Amino acid sequence: MKAITVIASPRKNGNCKQIVNIITKIIEEKDGINKIYFVDDLNIKGCQACRACKNMDNPTKCVLGDDFNRIMDEVEESDAFIFAAPNYFGEISGQGRIFMDRFFSMTKTTLNQLKNKPKCIVIHTYGASEGHYDEYINKKANIFNSIGCELIKVFSVGKNKPSSGNCDELIQEVKEIAYQISE
Ligand SMILES: Cc1cc2nc3c(=O)[nH]c(=O)nc-3n(C[C@H](O)[C@H](O)[C@H](O)COP(=O)(O)O)c2cc1C
Repeated sequence: MKAITVIASPRKNGNCKQIVNIITKIIEEKDGINKIYFVDDLNIKGCQACRACKNMDNPTKCVLGDDFNRIMDEVEESDAFIFAAPNYFGEISGQGRIFMDRFFSMTKTTLNQLKNKPKCIVIHTYGASEGHYDEYINKKANIFNSIGCELIKVFSVGKNKPSSGNCDELIQEVKEIAYQISE
């Protein structure tokens, strides 16, 4: 089993990464691999709204020749896609939003939806109380279905967990989902 993870936090061992670590451990236990990318380490421009991807006379993937298509081609060859982003001022971090804006080139109105229907986990971490951004992130996460994923779970994780501690329940829930996608 192969998973691709995109982390939209600049913190290499922050809350997003710590949750991803739990998933990676279980994927590896099951002889799979989880390849992790940080958006900050990639060359990914914002969507230029050129609409080349929507031109049905000449269908094309995103015409920007940066790392986005490369990563999404890898996702298309994988069984699972994990996306983790912190909340910055009420929204997914800028890194995450730049990455997600590029999904414009992969929605139903293009020919570029993922053909392999990878299982998808979305992780959103924040400092506010548990549940504070549930509605926001559940709505945002729908885009992953639009690009051809099968959204399995949205983790909306408040109170700066797991680094703030007291997160046995969270860890257990993350492990259960990790086993589910590793099957
Ligand atoms: C620039 C910035 C803005 C933030 N804004 C919010 C916010 O509006 N609401 C919130 O609950 N947490 C906010 N936080 C806290 C982070 O979302 C939280 O610590 C998160 O778990 C960080 O994830 P990471 O460790 O993976 O980077 C902010 C943090 C930063 C650095």
